[in-house]
Amino acid sequence: MPRIIYITSDDKRFEIEAQNGATVMETAINAGVPGIDAECGGACSCATCHVYVDASFAETLGGAGPMEADMLDFAWEATPNSRLSCQIKVSDALDGLVLRLPERQS
Ligand code: FES
Repeated sequence: MPRIIYITSDDKRFEIEAQNGATVMETAINAGVPGIDAECGGACSCATCHVYVDASFAETLGGAGPMEADMLDFAWEATPNSRLSCQIKVSDALDGLVLRLPERQS
């Protein structure tokens, strides 16, 4: 199973074994990782599942799609490596993915 690594804004590290096909948002919520609110439940309509993707995975993940990019305008302190975690599906290619969580979601 691929491992996804979440690092909170206060540098707590959570290394979670994820199920292929789940989103990295669902993986975090199910594992009790703090810092992702996911108020819309994954419908790409709240921007409270915002994460910062480590540069080493930028190419593998690619950028946000148009709808996600629009929602990222509402994310707190979005940067070029921001993504919405509900829009990232776990696969073996993401083994070792490092995601940093913002200080807050809204
Ligand atoms: S959970 Fe709402 S946009 Fe991702």
